[in-house]
Amino acid sequence: MKVDVLLGLQWGDEGKGKVVDVLTPRYDVIARFQGGPNAGHTLEFEGIKHVLHTIPSGIFHPGKINVIGNGVVIDPVVFKKEIEALVARGVDVKANLFISRKAHLILPTHRLLDAASEASKGKEKIGSTLKGIGPSYMDKTGRNGLRVGDAEHPDFISRYNVLVQKHKDLLAHYKFEYNLADLEPAFMESVEFLRTLTLIDSEYILNKYINEGKSILAEGAQGSLLDVDFGAYPFVTSSHTITAGTCIGLGIAPTKIGEVYGIFKAYCTRVGSGPFPTELEDETGELLRKRGNEFGSTTGRARRCGWLDIPALKYAIMLNGVTQLIMMKSDVLSGFEKIKVCTHYLYKGKQIDYMPYDVVHEKLEPVYEILEGWNQNLEQVSDHDELPTSLHNYIAYIEKATGLPITIISVGPDRKQTLLRQAVLR
Ligand code: IMP
Repeated sequence: MKVDVLLGLQWGDEGKGKVVDVLTPRYDVIARFQGGPNAGHTLEFEGIKHVLHTIPSGIFHPGKINVIGNGVVIDPVVFKKEIEALVARGVDVKANLFISRKAHLILPTHRLLDAASEASKGKEKIGSTLKGIGPSYMDKTGRNGLRVGDAEHPDFISRYNVLVQKHKDLLAHYKFEYNLADLEPAFMESVEFLRTLTLIDSEYILNKYINEGKSILAEGAQGSLLDVDFGAYPFVTSSHTITAGTCIGLGIAPTKIGEVYGIFKAYCTRVGSGPFPTELEDETGELLRKRGNEFGSTTGRARRCGWLDIPALKYAIMLNGVTQLIMMKSDVLSGFEKIKVCTHYLYKGKQIDYMPYDVVHEKLEPVYEILEGWNQNLEQVSDHDELPTSLHNYIAYIEKATGLPITIISVGPDRKQTLLRQAVLR
């Protein structure tokens, strides 16, 4: 059996959690492969709203296996709180959650380094979620990091102390005050808790599942345009958010990848700094933010909003090998008389339809096509045929521009507000 992948095609916050939750009944295993508590995957059902940060979005379905892969970075403190909140809701987390021993740990000093680094950048800051993501991945590739499996080792504390001393030396270079003693007890207690969970060699287990014919869905975090290589560097996260990241972050061979579900919003949002060609810094952007409730689920920050960007979408589709598209938040566009879609950019005086190397110092001016809007409340729509004609036209327009089918349309935050346009399973 192949591993299907679901990932974001924009700058994150596309609604991955909701769709993974909807698709989970079709899979045996849900696995996260990168990122960490910078993610905030929101799920709504039966009047409950729940935000997951590190745990895969299949956790609410009894009997489904949820795996945190080696490519993820885990903050034990955030993780423990996340598990406790789920347990309070009656979720049997211990039975259904497996954690890779090779996943790296986020230490309190990683968070301090993140904060110190951002503060020192002033106006140039990345707009990080300050969860310690960058510093922990730096230690991973720098071969200094501590992994989940190290927590099982008798000399964990002395390894921890060596790394923390390195971090203290680094922090001394910044004008930054901190009190580590306040943070360490919760960290040590959470590491203790982590040891009580099911820690696995996930690459072996996942490949065993594949050979046994179990179906696996890999759940991406952040978005393709935040990928450390392919996003607008340095305004990116520190992991590989694209399909290739699945192979690295789970230990699965490229030949084992099946469907790639590419998920995007009917418009665009971005949180944090960095280029955003179609950004609307006017009342239309404000309206999108208000109607779409565009505030970060991890940090509460207001998201920047803008029109759909086709060249950026096509870039992400190319990088990921997307086989089908999922369009979210169509309901938020209801009520706009006209809808704009960016088809090209003006770049250094030329019209282009690709993502050039330098989008940080050189500006991309969007070139728009204007489409008819629709004005229908979609909240109660339960069948794709009931959608307004202009929305059908919008869907057809995107399918033509990208050459891919849009197989799922989301018309609201609840699990039930999801329209399947064709059989999505292989
Ligand atoms: P970091 O990964 O927290 O260091 O943040 C780097 C950039 O990625 C910032 O612009 C963040 O706002 C953005 N980012 C990180 N995680 C997410 C996410 O889950 N959704 C949306 N943006 C994110």
